[in-house]
Amino acid sequence: MQESVPGFRRIERLPRQILKINPFGGEVQTARVPLISMGSGRPTSPFPHPWNFSEPIRILDTFFWNADAVQGSGRHNRFLDVPGFAPVLITRDPQIIRAISVATGDRVGQFDRDTLPSAGIARATGKDSLLYTNGPAWKRQKKLATPPFARTTLFQPEQFREFEVTFRQTIVRRLEILKKHLADAEKPAPVKLEAEIKAVMLEMLVNNFFGANVTYEEIRNRYVPALERVVDYIVRDTVVNKIGVPLRRLPRFTRNIGEVKDALASFEQLTDLVLETRKDGRGLWKQFNSDAPDEALRSNIRVFLAGALEATTSYASWAISHLARNPAAQEKVFHEVKDIQEYTPETLHDAKYLGHVLNETLRLTPSLYFHPRRATADTWVETTSGGRLRIPKGTHILLDVWHANRHEDHWGVTVTGHPALDFVPERWERLAACAHGSKELLHFGFGHGPRFCPGKSLGQLEVALVVGAFVKLFRFVAVNPDNPARAGVSTKPADGVLVELRLRNQASADTGLRA
Ligand code: HEM
Repeated sequence: MQESVPGFRRIERLPRQILKINPFGGEVQTARVPLISMGSGRPTSPFPHPWNFSEPIRILDTFFWNADAVQGSGRHNRFLDVPGFAPVLITRDPQIIRAISVATGDRVGQFDRDTLPSAGIARATGKDSLLYTNGPAWKRQKKLATPPFARTTLFQPEQFREFEVTFRQTIVRRLEILKKHLADAEKPAPVKLEAEIKAVMLEMLVNNFFGANVTYEEIRNRYVPALERVVDYIVRDTVVNKIGVPLRRLPRFTRNIGEVKDALASFEQLTDLVLETRKDGRGLWKQFNSDAPDEALRSNIRVFLAGALEATTSYASWAISHLARNPAAQEKVFHEVKDIQEYTPETLHDAKYLGHVLNETLRLTPSLYFHPRRATADTWVETTSGGRLRIPKGTHILLDVWHANRHEDHWGVTVTGHPALDFVPERWERLAACAHGSKELLHFGFGHGPRFCPGKSLGQLEVALVVGAFVKLFRFVAVNPDNPARAGVSTKPADGVLVELRLRNQASADTGLRA
């Protein structure tokens, strides 16, 4: 843990920390989590170490160990307060998550995005990105980089059509390869789909969205592995690299460092390829009305490439993974998409059940499982039901959407008609019918408030196309009945989406989508 609040503040709060006085105030209760708890049986220690950082969801589980035995809001709002360090607040309370998300921004006293968990990302992508900056610098980045992603831009009929057509052509080509693989196999062998999904997602982003022209072989065999390596490195680097030296500046001490440096070099080449298309106004660049030099955009492009690939792959992988364990839901999606040949804003809008499947996917298995925040001042937040919570300056905050979305109190039988831990797209029918429910119940899958995801419309279009096209062509069953998660920058199905695939219509000669 680092401390960026001036030293006097550290000393000022020390006596209260030693006396174990709760640093939070207000009627919303917060419960203390002990730093050490020998023999309690909790999953791990409540902060990342070199030995547990690869299982971040277990670290979050630790904060809520036995929390359901607590009455009141202390079961959902937990804190760690170690003398000498700033307090850490972890919340799985949707009302508090919402209140803090809304109060995050560039105005004086608003919450920042905590940069501590993304230190590794910043070392690999640069510090001047939309993801990493705060305050006025973030506002400038937002103005500069987000307009081409906005729903109003993307959903202009001409613009939408161009992306939809090229996205669809890419998907058709990749599905044809999978289909051929099936046809050539003597007996269908299980396939790990995550790698295929990742290649399609990167191809759509690089070639269709940014207008570059990189071959599928290069994407699949060079850039996807390079980005995987960079993302693995980012996760480890955040915890292990205490000296904060960017890898670019380190000599090749070990083979591993050499391999990561090569991966970073490939990542840089991909960034160059994507920036090169700017001068010809290809892909999204024609929507980009700024004379900012390429160099000013580089960090954001790196974040878009690595971050968007992670998030869209996670989202589509989870959706297919859930459908592979829910044949009835899979059939319902099939009946909805079987006659869709082109995805227009109208067909997407009409595919209600597919929409419920995607919402349920982000609820149960959000791609970004926690959203980090930092209190820049002593701050009061108020929930929609009138509860108030005082958060001291310097507090590191983890908005734990993973646990919020899976808790029976918030998403269970009483509220939605179905157990919170089950994958039930139908719960969204009930919530849609009750206006109050759809406004009040947020899954935070794309965040909330000013730091909401600018890639939402693009990501949703890509994921709906991939999942819709896939269900239309194949019937698929999970090899493993359980569906545990693994997590790094984003969450993914632990089995890499291992499924048995069958063509729906053996005689069918095409993907059923207009190429
Ligand atoms: C479809 C899958 C996606 C999911 C589930 C997703 C999820 C999220 C979430 C939850 C946040 C908010 C994090 C927070 O509050 O701390 C976020 C922010 C962000 N996302 Fe996405 N995202 C997706 C796709 C994309 C795409 C396609 C792009 C860009 C091409 C993108 C770029 C960003 C950026 C730059 C931010 C930071 C925004 C800011 O701080 O102002 N995302 N995303």
